[in-house]
Amino acid sequence: MKSSSWPHANQRRKKWSFLLPLAVAMVFCAEILFMNRLDMAKNADVVENWTTSFFRPSSVDGGIAVDVASDFVGGDSSGEVDTRACEKWLEREDAVSYARDFDKEPVLVTGKQKDFSSCSVPCEFGYSANRKADATFGYGQEGSTPSILRSMESSHYYSENDPDVARRKGFGVVMTTSLSSDVPVGYFSWAEYDIMAPIQPKTEKALAAAFISNCGARNFRLQSLEKLEQSGISIDSYGGCHNNRNGNVDKVETLKRYKFSLAFENSNEEDYVTEKFFQSLVAGTIPVVVGAPNILEFSPYPGSVLHIKELTDVESIAATMKHLASNPDAFNQTLRWKYEGPSDSFKALIDMAAVHSSCRLCIFLATNIHKKEEANEKFQKRPCSCTSNHETTYHLFVRERGRFKTESVFLRSGSLTMKALELAVLEKFKSLNHVPVWKNERPLSLRGGDELKVYKIYPVGLTQRQALYNFRFKDDLELEKYIKENPCAKLEVIFV
Ligand SMILES: *[C@@H]1O[C@H](CO)[C@@H](O)[C@H](O)[C@H]1NC(C)=O
Ligand SMILES: *[C@@H]1O[C@H](CO)[C@@H](O)[C@H](O)[C@H]1NC(C)=O
Repeated sequence: MKSSSWPHANQRRKKWSFLLPLAVAMVFCAEILFMNRLDMAKNADVVENWTTSFFRPSSVDGGIAVDVASDFVGGDSSGEVDTRACEKWLEREDAVSYARDFDKEPVLVTGKQKDFSSCSVPCEFGYSANRKADATFGYGQEGSTPSILRSMESSHYYSENDPDVARRKGFGVVMTTSLSSDVPVGYFSWAEYDIMAPIQPKTEKALAAAFISNCGARNFRLQSLEKLEQSGISIDSYGGCHNNRNGNVDKVETLKRYKFSLAFENSNEEDYVTEKFFQSLVAGTIPVVVGAPNILEFSPYPGSVLHIKELTDVESIAATMKHLASNPDAFNQTLRWKYEGPSDSFKALIDMAAVHSSCRLCIFLATNIHKKEEANEKFQKRPCSCTSNHETTYHLFVRERGRFKTESVFLRSGSLTMKALELAVLEKFKSLNHVPVWKNERPLSLRGGDELKVYKIYPVGLTQRQALYNFRFKDDLELEKYIKENPCAKLEVIFV
């Protein structure tokens, strides 16, 4: 990391620019001295010992002030050398080991079979005679073992699938379609749907296709279908509801021939988005949705989905459908994500499923187990920050969403900004040749090169709803406050 990437450091240099020649000379001398000391060191251990001997811990900012080699390095200009020493020191001092080592004692979940091949935290599914489980599917027998609720049904039919209701009923871990649940289980994944499949010619006379097996639903999907027909939209209905075509067909292949697909869910529940929607995306037909009130968050690109929020929307949606159907360019624009790729927001959503939900469950459990330990004194006593020459280095622990292990990232007091955090995270993960969790999951056309791009950085422990949509460090001040108030802060990054 070159200090020139730190805006604040540059500003400071400018202020003292009249002293520059002197400062350069001093840094030069200091560096020679420093290098000599290093050269004299016969091995890494001695260097460590030497470095350690220069730290004089004292409390500043709740962290530890460290005056590094101040007897021979003068002035601000030595910041780079000091910061390096600080980072090394923090890396060592903050590395408190956890009592629960998952390599020796994997996460244990009872009640269901494991169905993933590998996970970033050691994890076992099944029963063990001599070990207590960390969680169990269904209501737990042992009172202290958290029970897991896992269901992909709408809470409008199964009320306990609402995360709040589930928690009140005593479930410790909730896995439902809700992005606010502890470990969301969605209907989507790159593996299940060939989202980028090419668009086929629209050869059917009818504008829209519907596959609705049951007209009875706890929303207005039946009325919407009827009102669309009344508004002059021709609909081929392959399902039991208003059936007018033989339903014995391949659904996705059939949808490909239509300009529009009526993706009508059986309930209008947040995040409840089923294969009806994702199959429409595969087929390259424009989804007309009755369902999740937040369906636009699942849209592959702004403007690529038509949403009937309420019955009174039907007429204007019908008008839009007619307009798009008779304007090839406008129609093509609506599907342009098929050529240019979906938005980062869409990728970030679908990428979540690149890690199997059972593995995400294990990461969730392991994270909580370690979080409990972090309340212990030996963790609370970690320095987490280090001050030398009026500059404080903060130690952060950052991991990719979908992975368990964190990496050390350092930020300096002069630049506790989002921009600096992103740069530091990118630099760290690039130096590790990090391969994002979605690399082998996404369609080839969306894998990109080896570049990493940060979509979001947020505190570990947020729900996916918060992480993807609701949370953002409001500004640099809020980030700064967060880092200072949460020593050794644990953060998660989503790469796109
Ligand atoms: C540091 O030095 C002391 C003696 O000066 C020695 O006992 C110790 O092993 C050294 N530590 C390391 C990490 O080399
Ligand atoms: C649709 O738009 C894409 C670019 O977004 C273009 O490559 C393609 O040829 C267009 N197709 C038609 C039928 O206009």
